[in-house]
Amino acid sequence: MKIAVISPSTKSLNELCAILENSNATGVIARHEGGISKLRSVAEQERPDVIFVEGLYHDLRELAPIEFVTTHFPQVMIIILSSQQTPEFLINAMRVGVREVLPSPVSKTALEAALHRAQGKLGLRGATKRNGRILAFVSCKGGSGATFLATNVGYQLAGEGRKVLLIDLNLQYGDAVLTVHDRKPVSDIAEVARNLARLDASFFGASVVPVTANYDILAAPEDPAQSLQVKPEHLDAILNLAITSYDFILLDMSKTLDDLTIKALDRSNTIFLVVQAMLPYIRNADRMMNVFRSLGYAADKVELLVNRFSRNGEIGLEDLRAHLRVNSMRTIPAGYKDVARAINQGMPLAAVAKSSPVLKGIDELTQSLLPKIEQVQTGLLSRLLNIR
Ligand SMILES: Nc1ncnc2c1ncn2[C@@H]1O[C@H](COP(=O)(O)OP(=O)(O)OP(=O)(O)O)[C@@H](O)[C@H]1O
Ligand SMILES: [Mg+2]
Repeated sequence: MKIAVISPSTKSLNELCAILENSNATGVIARHEGGISKLRSVAEQERPDVIFVEGLYHDLRELAPIEFVTTHFPQVMIIILSSQQTPEFLINAMRVGVREVLPSPVSKTALEAALHRAQGKLGLRGATKRNGRILAFVSCKGGSGATFLATNVGYQLAGEGRKVLLIDLNLQYGDAVLTVHDRKPVSDIAEVARNLARLDASFFGASVVPVTANYDILAAPEDPAQSLQVKPEHLDAILNLAITSYDFILLDMSKTLDDLTIKALDRSNTIFLVVQAMLPYIRNADRMMNVFRSLGYAADKVELLVNRFSRNGEIGLEDLRAHLRVNSMRTIPAGYKDVARAINQGMPLAAVAKSSPVLKGIDELTQSLLPKIEQVQTGLLSRLLNIR
């Protein structure tokens, strides 16, 4: 839910936002210090679901800007916090379309209850929201294949009917979109970060590249200098929104470690560390595994993806497992011709080389991410048969 709070007092603004943030953990809260004169511009520019306005006294002239907003933006719910509430003021407030009038200062309980009522009205409370899983694909050395694998796993998951978002976190020179799509993105993550106060499902929907009906990519900025505009708190807000609207959020990442990438790794449910069975890759993978351990990640949070793997190679899987001390490993074979064709055409591998062994590996990985429906059904069936 997207909420805006307007109050002339910094102290009160902080208190109100702290309570609302607690009860609206997956939403966005924009704070505005000032009076009722701000209401119109907040509604016009941010289009929140709910605006809390504090600092009104029972002056009927103050209701005019409210009427403008309720008439022009009927979807925006307005809740007033007022220290003096004469019956006349209350009646007129309701007449101009105010949803509720709360006392000011308001108690935590009363504010939370009002928020719940608003969520109920907007159909957000208890609505079946998605509970997206965040999967990071980390290239432990340039060219490991993280972007290629992440973008194609995304395509396969979408083909299984899941709603998928891929975020290109290679903020400088990221090219995830071009791997599976041939059009230029209209927006990117830096633009979303710059406009965070406007972040809601519709703004976000307009900022991503729709690769298919249920596969979106949030591109990296075209200008590498803009990468600096994206901060950890921006990523947090984007992920908070994304997990409610997508089944899977894939993060395409490089080996760079900074505040933003650590935030991304912290928020990930699983980290796929993409390597090749060659010494320079393994050396970096080793360093990254140490970083993950020092960040306190559980061993089963990290899975090794050995890309371009060949059984005839000099370094075997058991060597890798022992050296890197990983619990879970998976291999993807090499297939230069098919992969190059897909990338050069800006198409998913499944669209250009259906029988490629590389696609088979990607599909096995995809299936491992889906709930084991067949197994559950078999289990159920055999249980039923046993009962008989
Ligand atoms: N299984 C594979 N078989 C053959 N070629 C592959 C395979 N996987 C990836 N490639 C090739 O490797 C190249 C690098 O892949 P990709 O850009 O995905 O790497 P990356 O890990 O994202 O690199 P960076 O760290 O620079 O972002 C791609 O151009 C692709 O053609
Ligand atoms: Mg990459």
